[in-house]
Amino acid sequence: MENVRPILLTLLVLAVAGASLPAAAAGDAERGAVLATTCMGCHGIPGYRNAYPSYRVPKLAGQHADYLAIGLNGYKNAGRAHETMQAQAVDLSAQDIQDVATYFASSGELAAGTPQSGERVARGKEKAAVCTACHGANGVSTMPTWPTLAGQHEDYLRQALTQYQLGERTDPVMAGQVNDLSEADIADLAAYFAAQPGLVSID
Ligand code: HEC
Ligand code: HEC
Repeated sequence: MENVRPILLTLLVLAVAGASLPAAAAGDAERGAVLATTCMGCHGIPGYRNAYPSYRVPKLAGQHADYLAIGLNGYKNAGRAHETMQAQAVDLSAQDIQDVATYFASSGELAAGTPQSGERVARGKEKAAVCTACHGANGVSTMPTWPTLAGQHEDYLRQALTQYQLGERTDPVMAGQVNDLSEADIADLAAYFAAQPGLVSID
């Protein structure tokens, strides 16, 4: 019990310091890098695929730390239904989550460049007008709790949108966004966001 007081004091100091700092500063990236060793077998191999259903594991480098932490807590609390990731997240403490999220967020710069073109990308761009209010112009979100979609793997984006539709992934905000999307809409939107310069693979 005697340790409780200093810990509470430290948390208070961190909370006060955190209020004036960007969220990414909340974790320890060096400690996060050590914790991330176990993640690299999937997230550190560009294009590595989930076995079934088959889609590429999401890119994490350059993603917002706050959003990555929300994602990890989702697996930990079963708000996200992916068994492998649930197993990865269940033993992570709140501090571990903060540190590993900070590490991945800082492990790559968002790519610059010109978007790829194509018919589906053009159709997706039109349909994405409602999404960019939150996910940012061209899919680079300016809110730390909302994911950047630009440059994310196309098949992962399709998978995520389908999961929201099926209720396998629960989020009150996104649940309201996906109701009216057809399969073709999902394909076009995923093609558009994947084609924007943004998230990068760690290698
Ligand atoms: C065996 C492969 C594997 C390992 C190991 C693994 N992941 Fe994942 N990760 C995945 C897959 C597959 C997904 C997508 C799951 C889904 O569809 O919800 C994912 C999703 C995520 C997401 C959500 C990203 C987003 O855009 O929403 C985060 C964050 C994440 N992983 C972090 C980690 C961390 C941190 C570790 C190490 C502690 C780790 N992962 C280890 C396969 C793995
Ligand atoms: C009102 C704000 C808002 C709007 C509008 C919105 N989103 Fe989202 N989106 C979010 C939030 C918040 C999350 C994170 C939810 C979570 O934790 O699962 C998210 C998550 C996602 C993800 C999962 C990303 C990942 O890395 O796993 C995809 C894909 C996505 N949104 C696509 C879209 C598309 C396509 C549209 C337009 C049809 C859209 N969103 C409209 C707020 C929004």
